[in-house]
Amino acid sequence: MYKVLLLPGDGIGPEVIAQARKVLAFLADDCGLDVEVEQALIGGSAYEQCADPLPEETLGRARAADAVLLGAVGGPRFDHIERELRPEKGLLRLRSALGLFANLRPAILYPDLAGASSLKAERVTGLDIMIVRELTGGLYFGEPRGIHRLEGDIRKGVNTLEYDENEIERIAHAAFRIAQHRDKRLCSVDKANVLEVSELWREVVERVHREYPEVSLSHMYVDNAAMQLVREPNQFDVVLTENMFGDILSDIAAMLTGSIGMLPSASLNEENRGLYEPVHGSAPDIAGKDEANPLAAILSVAMMLRYSLDAPQLADRVDQAVQQVISQGLRTPDIVYSARQCIGTQEMGDSVVRALSEQSLD
Ligand code: IPM
Ligand code: MG
Repeated sequence: MYKVLLLPGDGIGPEVIAQARKVLAFLADDCGLDVEVEQALIGGSAYEQCADPLPEETLGRARAADAVLLGAVGGPRFDHIERELRPEKGLLRLRSALGLFANLRPAILYPDLAGASSLKAERVTGLDIMIVRELTGGLYFGEPRGIHRLEGDIRKGVNTLEYDENEIERIAHAAFRIAQHRDKRLCSVDKANVLEVSELWREVVERVHREYPEVSLSHMYVDNAAMQLVREPNQFDVVLTENMFGDILSDIAAMLTGSIGMLPSASLNEENRGLYEPVHGSAPDIAGKDEANPLAAILSVAMMLRYSLDAPQLADRVDQAVQQVISQGLRTPDIVYSARQCIGTQEMGDSVVRALSEQSLD
């Protein structure tokens, strides 16, 4: 039996995770998925109840789980808290503690949503990009870091961008292996014209490439990559990049597909145990209004089935059910771009479960 830990978190996290939970319950009750689902606290809600955004108990349960499904963390309510106790820190500590170095962020355009893209439909037709973001290194975790006081009472902020060869090598392997199962084109994004870290990154990626001769490798500077993503996104298949660049580029790629509310992600460790989360954040402005799009959370369940629970057929069925509600014209407010049937978070979740149950009658 697989153990799945749900971490709803803050903002719209709880409402979208509730819909993902319905999907998991259906798969367990009707499709033979052998899974036990638990729930724990993370982020601001954990801070409020336990004075810690990642309580010991949550971390212990996450370590014991086969997969973790997280909603979102953060919100303006928590911005005044000292940095170490902020909701985001809970997520960053969890990524680090579980060794989740490989962050997979697919950006796929559903043909019916082309009109919701911020680019012209013809630019994004067929869009299918996989961003592979290094998640446990770089600026996010490098030491030294902090805000120091200098002479004359001037303060200085410091963060450190560092990667060793092993860190680069393992994320490069992960990206090449993914490219092997796709269109076999890998673009490694760096800033090698300025940064030594990027120079090493390029060298190591080229060395790893020798083990994957069937994959074609290109390199691109990050500023150009940002431009190319909005100019001609279809030139990309797999994009490999470091933590901070990946954070930024994955938000750009998300918007190309029409809504960040549609995009799931997986963060995997060496044993393929993973944390799954929608790419959208906590969206405090719409929290509790039944307006959030639960499809990113539901698609994160599909990724979980595929990568951690060894259930690729069920993953396909969830993907198809999402496809189906989209082609039926059902839309949450974020993806309504013309006179369409606009529904709420819960109804969208129920619609996906209905689509799943209709499949099983086939
Ligand atoms: C993301 C988010 C996080 C990040 C924040 C919430 C810490 O933006 O998952 O992309 O920067 O990694
Ligand atoms: Mg981000």
